[in-house]
Amino acid sequence: MRNSFLRSCWGATLFFFILLARSKADDRNPFANDPKAAKAGEYEFRINCALCHGLGARGGGRGPDLTRAQKKHTHSDAEMFQVISNGLPGTAMPANGTNGQGVGMTDEEIWQIITYIRSVEVKAPAKPIGNVAHGKELFYGDANCSLCHMIDGKGGRLGPDLTGVGGSRTGESIIDSVRNPSRRLAWGLTEATKEFPQEYETVTVVTADGKEIKGVALNEDNFSVQMMDSNEQIYLLEKDKLRSFKKSRESMMPVFSADVLSDKDLDDIVAYLVGLGVK
Ligand code: HEC
Ligand code: HEC
Repeated sequence: MRNSFLRSCWGATLFFFILLARSKADDRNPFANDPKAAKAGEYEFRINCALCHGLGARGGGRGPDLTRAQKKHTHSDAEMFQVISNGLPGTAMPANGTNGQGVGMTDEEIWQIITYIRSVEVKAPAKPIGNVAHGKELFYGDANCSLCHMIDGKGGRLGPDLTGVGGSRTGESIIDSVRNPSRRLAWGLTEATKEFPQEYETVTVVTADGKEIKGVALNEDNFSVQMMDSNEQIYLLEKDKLRSFKKSRESMMPVFSADVLSDKDLDDIVAYLVGLGVK
């Protein structure tokens, strides 16, 4: 009686350890450091990820540089596997098999991509040039960025919240957004129901009683548009009640040319934004 009880305890313990060992094994990249797998992963990466993370994984307009050894969400290979499989909710990073990622990848293909990312990581990334403290001062002061942008809950609402921008985009692409705001409009909040989120397009309407309103589009469908004007007033308008409705890809953000904001000052602001991204 006692023996069989002990035996079943042992059995249960053993079973538990086998399970533990198995899940540990599944967390490990079966292709770690395998150059052939890295090559296959590079091919997969170009198809599924380069659109946002850039060719060579060095980052693009819509996704962060993945060659940085220090990452924001993912440290181990297992964490990276989770992020690539499930995406990062609330950001543009999609789950496997949705949005820009095309057809779903197999577990094997995901591990190959991780092997590729590890193979291009740069151990000591170049520090962003620029003075973080001065950048912060400019952001809230002379450069007026905080009139329209929020960081950690402080600032304006007309433009996108920039708290995470340093972690999700490269310094170069942030500079481009400031020098040429209209070249590539920012995305608004990601919504599960939409394949891609609304962009910050500029909308100009004339209401039935002749009032002109200009602002950024927050949300739009066939029948209605939700927009915010430069006083941060939000409007929800039915399109068929409007006298006119015009949309443009000319950003509401002013162009900051080098005579308004010098290259050095802009480097300082970028250093401040990128510093927030890796904290
Ligand atoms: C539609 C754009 C888009 C696509 C496609 C995309 N990503 Fe991302 N990814 C992002 C964004 C944006 C983030 C950063 C989210 C944040 O932190 O705000 C991100 C974050 C990540 C991270 C976390 C980085 C960190 O610092 O921890 C990894 C890893 C990653 N992506 C890998 C991939 C891989 C691999 C693919 C292709 C299979 C892929 N992504 C496809 C936009 C994308
Ligand atoms: C008058 C309001 C206004 C001011 C001032 C302003 N911005 Fe913007 N900004 C916007 C709007 C609106 C957008 C969204 C449309 C676009 O992408 O151009 C935007 C977009 C951006 C983006 C792109 C964000 C993304 O997620 O892609 C960055 C980066 C940015 N601004 C940085 C700055 C910096 C830095 C300053 C100060 C030097 C600044 N902005 C000043 C209104 C403003």
